[in-house]
Amino acid sequence: MRSEESLDLRPYLREKKAIVDRTLEAHFPVAEGPASDLIDAMKYSLFAGGKRLRPILCLAGAEAVGGTETDVLPAACALELIHTYSLIHDDLPLMDDDDLRRGKPTCHKIFGEAVALLAGDGLLTESFNLMTAPELVERVSPHLIFKVIALISKAAGYRGMVGGQVVDIQSEGKAVDLSVVEFMHTHKTGALISASVASGAILAGGDKSELEAITSYGQKIGLAFQISDDILDIEGDSMTMGKESGSDEQKGKITYPAVIGLSKAKQVQSELVEASIESLRAFDHRAEPLRQIARYIIERRK
Ligand code: IPE
Ligand code: IPE
Ligand code: MG
Ligand code: MG
Ligand code: MG
Repeated sequence: MRSEESLDLRPYLREKKAIVDRTLEAHFPVAEGPASDLIDAMKYSLFAGGKRLRPILCLAGAEAVGGTETDVLPAACALELIHTYSLIHDDLPLMDDDDLRRGKPTCHKIFGEAVALLAGDGLLTESFNLMTAPELVERVSPHLIFKVIALISKAAGYRGMVGGQVVDIQSEGKAVDLSVVEFMHTHKTGALISASVASGAILAGGDKSELEAITSYGQKIGLAFQISDDILDIEGDSMTMGKESGSDEQKGKITYPAVIGLSKAKQVQSELVEASIESLRAFDHRAEPLRQIARYIIERRK
């Protein structure tokens, strides 16, 4: 029996998601006061659903190097705030103009564009408050927290996610080659995913070679994740995904299937997943969740 068969991933994901959800719930107040609409809009998108993949990767990254989840939970939740902000902005009419997200009308459909824009800003900036939360500072060396803030801010900003998003928007309807779509995907999605798993490993005290291996794993699954998102847009079911399928083709989005064809895109994502697992060869059973998450990324239906 392969050791990876000994972990049942579904209950693992359910359990970690519940921990993340509880921590996020505890962090956000009841919406009241003059800015209550803003708080409502932030909570609306944050608690609409979502797989919590980035925080779970952060927890699993810590586990792989022998850390505990309490050491990284605030940072894990901060990553979900950044991700949710990116979804709210991605759905705005001036970006992808989508009406459905996490099974509900998009933030701007309910709260209007201005409040949705500000809800995204509020989530992004609050993430830095969480990354400096007293519970984290009490348990982890400030030097490691500093390192993680530097990593995450780079991954979320113009050298990462935002840089990828601008290429996505500017490439709509154009003929581009594989290097452009690879840049787009590794930046708009891969960067934050890779930073998520690496942050967990950093905060849990991973050494240099562990961090290199985990970063290599994260980069590969990050790209595979966006390729699978492109494929789900073609083959997935809107009800299951909680967002509209078929919207990439309709908008002339540049995707892996659009550039290299569906079957080649599937081949590339499988190769990336196998290579990501290979990156973890020096790790023991504590990296089992990461190995199985890699497979789950291309097998998922939502
Ligand atoms: C969707 O991310 C946007 C991409 C970066 C592809 P997820 O598929 O992780 O969305 P949620 O968080 O589960 O809603
Ligand atoms: C989004 O990519 C990447 C982000 C940084 C939000 P997509 O535009 O393909 O994500 P979906 O399909 O709307 O979730
Ligand atoms: Mg988009
Ligand atoms: Mg989109
Ligand atoms: Mg998509």
